[in-house]
Parts: sequence; structure tokens; C-alpha cells
Amino acid sequence: MKLSLARLLEAYALLWPASAIHITPSSNGSLALRNSYDYIVIGAGIGGLVIANRLSENTSVSVLLVEAGELDDRAEDVTVPGNIGQENPSRYEWTVTTTPQQFLDNQTRTFSQGRVVGGSTIVNGLCWTRGAAADYDAWKNLGNPGWGWTDLLPYFLKSENYTTHSNPSLHMSPAQGKHGRQGPVQVGFPRYVYNQTFNFLDGIQELGIPLNEDLNSGYGTGANFVPGSVKVENQSRADARTAYLDPVLSRPNLELLTGHTVTRILNGVAGNKTLRNSFQKAGSMPGEVTVTGVELAANSTAPRYNVFCKREIILAAGAILSPVLLQISGFGPAEHLRNLNVNVLVHLPGVGSNLQDHAMVQPVYKYTAPDVFSALDIVGATREAAKKEYLTNRTGNIGPWTATMVNAVAFPALDEIPSQLLHLITNETAQNLPPTYDVTLRAGYEAQKTEIRALLSRRDVAAYELMATSWGQLAVGAMHTLSRGTVYARSSSIFDNEPPILDPRLCSHAFDCEILRMGLELNDRLIATDAMAALLPIPPADLGLMILRIGRHSWKPSEEWCTRNFTPRVLLP
Ligand SMILES: Cc1cc2nc3c(=O)[nH]c(=O)nc-3n(C[C@H](O)[C@H](O)[C@H](O)COP(=O)(O)OP(=O)(O)OC[C@H]3O[C@@H](n4cnc5c(N)ncnc54)[C@H](O)[C@@H]3O)c2cc1C
Ligand SMILES: *[C@@H]1O[C@H](CO)[C@@H](O)[C@H](O)[C@H]1NC(C)=O
Ligand SMILES: *[C@@H]1O[C@H](CO)[C@@H](O)[C@H](O)[C@H]1NC(C)=O
Ligand SMILES: *[C@@H]1O[C@H](CO)[C@@H](O)[C@H](O)[C@H]1NC(C)=O
Ligand SMILES: *[C@@H]1O[C@H](CO)[C@@H](O)[C@H](O)[C@H]1NC(C)=O
Ligand SMILES: *[C@@H]1O[C@H](CO)[C@@H](O)[C@H](O)[C@H]1NC(C)=O
Ligand SMILES: *[C@@H]1O[C@H](CO)[C@@H](O)[C@H](O)[C@H]1NC(C)=O
Ligand SMILES: *[C@@H]1O[C@H](CO)[C@@H](O)[C@H](O)[C@H]1NC(C)=O
Ligand SMILES: *[C@@H]1O[C@H](CO)[C@@H](O)[C@H](O)[C@H]1NC(C)=O
Ligand SMILES: *[C@@H]1O[C@H](CO)[C@@H](O)[C@H](O)[C@H]1NC(C)=O
Ligand SMILES: *[C@@H]1O[C@H](CO)[C@@H](O)[C@H](O)[C@H]1NC(C)=O
Repeated sequence: MKLSLARLLEAYALLWPASAIHITPSSNGSLALRNSYDYIVIGAGIGGLVIANRLSENTSVSVLLVEAGELDDRAEDVTVPGNIGQENPSRYEWTVTTTPQQFLDNQTRTFSQGRVVGGSTIVNGLCWTRGAAADYDAWKNLGNPGWGWTDLLPYFLKSENYTTHSNPSLHMSPAQGKHGRQGPVQVGFPRYVYNQTFNFLDGIQELGIPLNEDLNSGYGTGANFVPGSVKVENQSRADARTAYLDPVLSRPNLELLTGHTVTRILNGVAGNKTLRNSFQKAGSMPGEVTVTGVELAANSTAPRYNVFCKREIILAAGAILSPVLLQISGFGPAEHLRNLNVNVLVHLPGVGSNLQDHAMVQPVYKYTAPDVFSALDIVGATREAAKKEYLTNRTGNIGPWTATMVNAVAFPALDEIPSQLLHLITNETAQNLPPTYDVTLRAGYEAQKTEIRALLSRRDVAAYELMATSWGQLAVGAMHTLSRGTVYARSSSIFDNEPPILDPRLCSHAFDCEILRMGLELNDRLIATDAMAALLPIPPADLGLMILRIGRHSWKPSEEWCTRNFTPRVLLP
């Protein structure tokens, strides 16, 4: 689509305000936008917002931030920690479903992905936990200078305003030099503590897993209350929008375009005869491709229009949709792009591969002791009271609406990899990767596996995590998975890609199922400890059924269990 430059410049002169512009579909973006910006950032999630914030610190550069979703309305289901996971946040999410999971039950899973200014930080669980130092060092070892723990620590410090719990008897103390107090993301602990959290932490210690006074110190194992991205003074969600956008809304060089999806990244080939000729000869670009801007639209039927960039485009559309947009724009595996009728600009087999998800199971061990008070009890008059307390007593309140859904976490280490698991890691490899993986991806995977194997042998690196809620859900998540999946564009129109062809191939490597099984077995021993037995927990159906539920991300307390009989592919003796 051709735009009239003069018209745009005219419109720009009229609309350029004294502070950051927020342009919505009803503002008619094609009129309100400038023809070009120094930087265009795609996606206003945490990644995009941090970049847009930092780039626009320099008043001489112009930054356009494009977001498919809108600003959220700051309603209770977004801001109140106690409501997270209780109400349906789907109005701020993309509809993303996986393909049938052939290594589990052949059924699909939904994948939660934020579609709103703030991205997934508007819908996420608020847990504020870094990886172990060794995890980041493994990134560095894989050929990424600048991504090790000591490289990243200054940025961790810069990002946060960390406040420890006001109750000193809770065995938490921030490690020296590992926390920031001036950063934009507010981090703290809920004032309200459910009594059963103490049962959980006592039980965990009975099993020999120690408390870790600071789960974010780089020593990544142990257990404790989980810090949250919450504003301490009023115990509300701290998200990417409040941390990185709201404070800089007065910058005139930053423009936010909401309700617009980037449909394609534009390149310099079409407008350059030399490049066009060589492209036509070779069928893909033999040399470098310069990106020149983005094509945008409010929806599939709205007109598309172009905005150009003078310096860089930053693609921050999230782990699922970033590779999809790259593929649609001509960057990705050539064969797949040709199937989509997309011109292959750069054949990059890795785009859409090496997809990893932290597989999770969420069993509920219902606490039946009569005096247990949990989030499930916040109904009727109790809910009204909790709400009133939360709304009227922000600075002093200790009410249950301040407590995040996950109250405490445990990160157990393997210390030493059991021989059966080692056998799996060593011997079950290539045949489990997607057949589409080429030699470069296979080599990259082997390098990752070497790192993961070393990580899993360490005392300070977790193999899995337990996440305890107040109502007896002891979710188990795998921390270092070996399954690898793919995400491919379904068609060359971004609007046909909700969902894309997303196959995380959960448990395609049997190791991941076995790790989850170890977590479930730890749960069994945990509920048998004196501390936990006092809650009279009722364990759920058998482990095989639980493993079937991997990846069914649903934090809603649920009694419903899958009835299909299922045996994991490999069971340890
Ligand atoms: C349900 C859930 C719970 C989670 N819980 C936790 C937790 O407790 N602790 C934790 O640390 N992490 C948690 N996470 C993960 C964390 O929120 C994400 O890792 C983080 O938000 C990723 O940041 P991002 O910038 O890469 O992508 P996102 O934050 O997802 O942002 C991507 C943005 O790009 C936009 N976009 C996509 N395509 C386009 C396009 N073509 N044009 C324009 N805009 C586009 C999207 O609408 C979205 O707003 C959770 C995530 C989810 C979904
Ligand atoms: C937006 O402006 C363009 C350019 O003037 C015009 O063609 C289009 O019809 C307008 N769209 C709406 C929805 O007003
Ligand atoms: C700000 O941007 C201008 C224009 O690109 C550049 O000349 C200048 O060096 C930048 N200033 C800083 C402090 O980075
Ligand atoms: C899933 O489908 C595959 C292929 O159709 C089949 O071999 C397998 O038995 C199925 N698994 C389950 C648990 O139904
Ligand atoms: C950090 O948090 C404390 C509350 O714990 C607050 O008083 C202070 O203003 C915050 N500082 C910044 C820079 O946000
Ligand atoms: C939590 O335990 C304390 C100490 O035993 C008790 O006083 C309090 O009533 C309990 N709270 C709830 C909500 O059961
Ligand atoms: C919490 O306090 C912050 C100021 O720190 C304010 O901007 C925000 O609106 C408050 N949130 C709620 C939900 O009251
Ligand atoms: C076209 O592309 C070539 C190769 O990148 C470049 O050298 C040349 O300057 C470009 N021409 C124009 C008009 O941009
Ligand atoms: C698509 O976008 C156009 C332009 O903003 C708008 O007029 C129209 O109502 C939208 N259609 C849908 C289905 O949302
Ligand atoms: C507010 O909280 C403080 C501290 O917990 C408490 O003393 C006070 O009674 C509460 N006020 C109301 C109105 O709930
Ligand atoms: C891998 O399999 C081979 C052949 O079955 C066996 O000899 C070897 O011990 C296995 N490796 C591990 C680490 O178990």
C-alpha cells in the first residue's frame, strides 16, 4: 500500500503533542503516525517495553511501540494478587492452542500469551525468581558472551526495587549485593500468610530440603516464601506497564500504537533493483537484507499500511509469535516458507525451532483439616470482607487478597543424576528431535544437553520446582527440559495464525516425564510428613493420570481429573 508522504507529514504536524502519543484504532493510525521513526519496537510486553523505555531516554531519537492489544483497565482481576488465576483473564490473551500432544494423550493444550500493553506480565503469576547463577553461565557457555550471571547481575539490580518481608521471623534475608532498591519493578512479599504455608515449609525441611533465605541470590535450590512483583505499599500487581511505560508517558519522542498488529516486517529488496534482480536469480537473498519498516493493520479486514524505520526494528512479540512474524516476513526455514508462498529472504532453519516449555503438572492434595482456611474459602460474605479490607486498608492491611496464588516454592536439586535418568539423557536423543531439525539444530541441541547434564549434577541448580497454593495444589514444574518443539506459521497472513502450528512436543524426551514423576513422588513423601499430615491432605488419583495432564495450564482449583487411562512411556523402577 502506498502512502502519501505529504499527507502524513501534515497529519504529523497537527497531531504531535507535548507528550507521548497513544494511538488506537479509532485514531486512524495511518493518519496519526509519522512516516518513519528511528526505532520501531514490535510488541509491548516486558521485552518491548524495556527497550522502548531505554531507547527513548535519548530525546533525539524517535521510538514507535506497536502493540496488538490495548491498555488493560486496571480491574481487580489484573491488579489484585489474590484474584490472579481465580478469574478468567482471557480478554487479555491470544487464543493459542497446541497441536495434539502425541507423546502424552493426543490432546491439545492451551498456551497462555498476553495480548495487552504489558504483555504476559498482565496475566502472569507474579512470582519473582531468578534462575541459578550456573543457569546463566550455561547460556554464556553456549556461545553468548555477555549473558553469564556476573554480566546480567547489574541489570537484575537495575530492574528491581526489592523489599523483604516486614516479618523478620520468616527466615528471609536478601543476599548482600544481589538486590536493587532503585529499579522500576516493585518487588515484595504479600503481607498475608496462609497458615498452611508453614506446614509446607516445615514438611519440606523434614525431607531434608533446606530453607534458602534468598531464592534470588544465584544459589538456586531450597525453599521459601516466593517474592512477587507487587507494589509493597498497596499490595497490587507490578507489571511491565507500570514499571516501564507509565513513568515515561511524558516523553514526546515515544509513541505507543495499540490495537494494531504488525502483519509483516518490510525489507529493502522490493524497492532496490539490484537486490531484486539478484533475489530473482537466486530464489533467496544471496547477501544481506536490510529491513526498512513494518506493515500494520488493526484487523484482518482493516487496511494495511507501512511505517518505516531509520535505524532498527526490535522484534519483541513473545516466544511464540516472534518466530511466526519472522517466517511470514521471509526469514526462516526455506522449505516451510515456500509452502507458505513466502519469498525466502534468508534461509534460517532455526526460526521456530528449539522451542521449550517448562512442562507442569498441577495435582491438588485437598486439605481437609477443619481449621484450614484457604483461598477457596474466600466466597460469599468472606469474600466481601476480604475485598473491603483490601480496598480500605491498603497500607496496613493483612488480608488474604494480598497473598499471591503461589505462596511458597521449593527447588530441589538432584545433586547426582540417578543412573536411569543418566541413561535417558545420554541415549535418548536424536530420534526424539523433530524430523525437520537440520544438522545445525541437532548440534546446538547436543551442546545444550551437555550444559543441562552438568547443571543437573549441581547442588545449587534445581531439577524441578514445587509451587504450593493455599488450597493444596502442589504443582510440579520441570526446570531443565530436554523435549524440543516447533512453531510454524499456518499461513502467510498473521491473522490466520491464532493459533500458529505450535507443537511443544511435551515429553517427547522421556526424561521430562521422569523428572515430573520425581516431583510427584516428592509430593507423596511431603504430605506424609508430620507437618503436612496435620492438614489431612487427600492425594489425587494415581501418578500416571497426573502425568497425562502435563501442560494443562489451569490454575483454577479443580476437582476434575482426566479419566483416560495412560501410562507414561518410560517408568523408572
Ligand atoms: C499465565 C502465565 C503465567 C506466568 N507466570 C510467571 C511468573 O509467575 N513469573 C515469571 O517470572 N514469569 C511468568 N510468566 C512468564 C512471563 O510473563 C513471560 O516470560 C514474559 O512476559 C515474556 O515477555 P515478552 O516480552 O517476551 O513477551 P510478552 O510479555 O508475552 O509480550 C509480547 C507482546 O507482543 C504482542 N504481539 C505479539 N505479536 C504481535 C504483532 N504481530 N504485532 C503487535 N504486537 C504483537 C503481544 O500482544 C504481547 O503484548 C507467566 C506467563 C504466563 C502466560
Ligand atoms: C484512515 O485514513 C485513511 C487515509 O486518509 C483513509 O483512507 C481511511 O479511510 C481512514 N480510515 C478510517 C477508518 O477512518
Ligand atoms: C542521542 O542520540 C543522538 C542522535 O542519534 C546521538 O547523536 C547522541 O549521541 C545520543 N546521546 C546519547 C547520550 O546517547
Ligand atoms: C496417540 O496417537 C498415536 C498415533 O495415532 C498412537 O500411536 C498413540 O497410541 C496415541 N496415544 C494415546 C495415549 O492415545
Ligand atoms: C521502593 O519501595 C519502597 C517500599 O518498599 C518505596 O517506599 C520506595 O519509594 C520505592 N522506591 C522506588 C525507587 O520505587
Ligand atoms: C493461623 O494460625 C494461628 C496460630 O496458630 C491462629 O491463631 C490463626 O487463627 C490461624 N489462622 C487461620 C485463618 O486459621
Ligand atoms: C498502587 O500504588 C501505585 C503508586 O505506587 C499507584 O500508581 C497504583 O494505582 C496503586 N494501585 C492500586 C490498584 O491501587
Ligand atoms: C541496493 O542494495 C545494494 C546492495 O545491498 C546497495 O549497495 C545499494 O546501495 C542499494 N541501492 C539503493 C538505491 O538503496
Ligand atoms: C477492523 O478495523 C477497522 C478499522 O479500525 C474497524 O472499522 C472495524 O470495525 C474492525 N473490524 C473488526 C471486525 O473489528
Ligand atoms: C488496617 O490494618 C491495620 C494493621 O493491620 C489494623 O490495625 C487496622 O485495624 C486495619 N483497619 C481496618 C479499617 O481494617
Ligand atoms: C547408553 O546405552 C548404551 C547401550 O545400550 C549403554 O552401554 C550405556 O551404558 C548407556 N549410557 C548410559 C549413560 O546409561
